[in-house]
Amino acid sequence: MALDRPTVPNDLRAFWMPFTANRQFKKAPRMFVAAEGMHYTTSDGRQVLDGTAGLWCCNAGHKRPRIVEAIQKQAAELDYAPAFQMGHPLAFELANKLVDMAPEPMEHVFFTNSGSEAVDTALKIAIAYHRARGEGARTRLIGRERGYHGVNFGGISVGGIVNNRKVFGSLLNGVDHMPHTHLPENAWTKGQPEHGAHLADELERIVALHSAETIAAVIVEPMAGSTGVLLPPKGYLEKLRSICTKHGILLIFDEVITGFGRLGSSFAADHFNVMPDMICCAKGLTNGVIPMGAVLATAQIHDAFMQGPENLIELFHGYTYSGNPIASAAGIATLETYREDGLFQRAADLAPYWEDALHSLRDARHVIDIRNMGLIGAVELEPIAGKPTERAFNAFLKAYDKGILIRTTGDIIAMSPPLIIEKGHIDQLVDTLRNVLETLD
Ligand SMILES: Cc1ncc(COP(=O)(O)O)c(C=O)c1O
Repeated sequence: MALDRPTVPNDLRAFWMPFTANRQFKKAPRMFVAAEGMHYTTSDGRQVLDGTAGLWCCNAGHKRPRIVEAIQKQAAELDYAPAFQMGHPLAFELANKLVDMAPEPMEHVFFTNSGSEAVDTALKIAIAYHRARGEGARTRLIGRERGYHGVNFGGISVGGIVNNRKVFGSLLNGVDHMPHTHLPENAWTKGQPEHGAHLADELERIVALHSAETIAAVIVEPMAGSTGVLLPPKGYLEKLRSICTKHGILLIFDEVITGFGRLGSSFAADHFNVMPDMICCAKGLTNGVIPMGAVLATAQIHDAFMQGPENLIELFHGYTYSGNPIASAAGIATLETYREDGLFQRAADLAPYWEDALHSLRDARHVIDIRNMGLIGAVELEPIAGKPTERAFNAFLKAYDKGILIRTTGDIIAMSPPLIIEKGHIDQLVDTLRNVLETLD
């Protein structure tokens, strides 16, 4: 492979890296310089098996020809078009394709550039929707402990991960949180856990506290990914849905990770057969190749804005790059790749093998819990006394040295490979991980 730049730049100081221990990284950088299919190539020429689909986003694997060609062609044809008061065909085509593959009630698409922006967009739409219908007192937003909804102010306000919140001031007013659903009695669960549906009743407590007419929306990840793969207990999402419906509260599913086949269906809403009022997505929308996110909304929500004089803007919200032509081209090619290769069904078909392989680590050193669903899974380690996160991070470093990419959050190892993964790759991931765990303090 010919590279026209040094594989490790001489000066690493300028780039302030996101969610990274910058000083530690820059002393011993880990660089990827190429990727294809299931593998990354490192700057020292090694192949690393992608156990995390990049950052939960390259669901079709790397360097997919259709996506690469679509981007190249689009860049040469229409590089950019203004997003406000002007259009270009591909954004409309992608929106239609998304609606076709989304759960039936989703009829409209608002494009953003990331999952964080999709979340803040959905929260704003929720508040403005109620106001448009004459219920302007509905401004409260309800999230959940341990929830991850990106890093913008709305998202960290409804999110529930303390490190993402505690140094950023007072956040949004009028936000409350439900308890998370991670219960010790559900350890070692395969698929949806048995215990915890009652935790949805906490929403009734919050409604009783604030009164329904002050609450705009509830936002949850149907399956929480970034906080360590927390699965919804059986009956939990159904209960949330019915409590929201009863009180006129919108239910938003943050499907930035669960969208596009991760659980073996287009969206988790289909998988669990629970329909929210809005879905946030990003990541797999363009296979991670170009930044893009979206909010899918029902006709009821969209149509509430389509009133008043037709020459006036209905929603004062949007981004310079909403529906960007190159991102749209990447999105269309990505959705076509998923469909042509049957990747969502492939994920569903491989899920039992993935489950058995992951749970075979039950007797591996330091492991205190394993959980899985579709092509996602978590292996939770016993923390080193007084040094939380250290053991899992060391596992990540050793795994990288041994040729697999995993991801850690706290002392939880999370894996979410591209949906093109083969059984042999699953074996490699699990065998290498067992090996790594044996060598860890
Ligand atoms: C559920 C969820 N919401 C939002 C986000 C934020 O997405 P982004 O990093 O594209 O802003 C993420 C990212 O991991 C996520 O997992």
